[in-house]
Amino acid sequence: MTTRPPTLLMCPPTHFGIEYEINPWMRVEVAADNAEAQRQWHALYEHLKATGITIELIEPVKGLPDIVFTANAGMVYHNRVLVSRFRHPQRQGESPLFREWFESHGFEVVEFAPPDQGGGYDFEGAGDALFCGDTLFAGYRMRSDATCHQQIGKILGVRVIPVELVDPRYYHIDTCFCPLAEDEAIWYPPAFDDYGRRAIEATIPKLIEAEQSEAERFACNAVVVGRNVFTNIGCPRLHDELRERGYTPTATPLDEFVKAGGSAKCLTLRLDGEEAASWKKVV
Ligand code: ARG
Repeated sequence: MTTRPPTLLMCPPTHFGIEYEINPWMRVEVAADNAEAQRQWHALYEHLKATGITIELIEPVKGLPDIVFTANAGMVYHNRVLVSRFRHPQRQGESPLFREWFESHGFEVVEFAPPDQGGGYDFEGAGDALFCGDTLFAGYRMRSDATCHQQIGKILGVRVIPVELVDPRYYHIDTCFCPLAEDEAIWYPPAFDDYGRRAIEATIPKLIEAEQSEAERFACNAVVVGRNVFTNIGCPRLHDELRERGYTPTATPLDEFVKAGGSAKCLTLRLDGEEAASWKKVV
């Protein structure tokens, strides 16, 4: 009972670049090639469009290079959206723009309680909150607070399993975990602590483990549209495994975005709701 057909929000990388360092992948001296980033982004856009889904765009803004990572705009649940509160000042200017976009596109913006009333401080949207089946797996420590995730459970009335992220290179849960179906997900276990690993293993019957070299190519940061799975190039083992399990993987180069610590999934946000994102038959 989502309110929209399968729809993604993306933001063209007109002003994308490495202007600061807020995760271990970013090095200002390792510049992104903006023209190449535009080609890579457009190729991803065309692949996604070819599945038949709708793609909405938000205007890029100079001085906010990471606004391309729309997964961090907020978390959509049916017609409601929790807009992100970014941890790093470099990205905080994005929140009012995303809020305005959501409001002008018919979403109901839902507020967290203030931090002194149990609301928590930081929350980086679908980058840190992914449904597998009806359970929301929510990453905390690097970018989002566990208290925010508890609030989400109360606000939306859903089951939340907060899992701690322990490796700074996998600072958002969508860099090390990707639901494929209600009972199936890709993951990179070393990014979680023991409790997180056990919680994921106990809840999701079918898990595909990314190996280290492919996790570093952002294998887990996949966009899932029905049985189609889109990732960066350099994840052949994962793609073989996906094919064996009946998925159709596509590799598309996204290295300019890896320089910012992001890949395919980070460049998209499911507007028909994160809970609808992975397992509904859409096309
Ligand atoms: N440079 C961005 C940041 O550090 C990358 C965000 C990637 N987004 C994601 N959902 N993993 O915030």
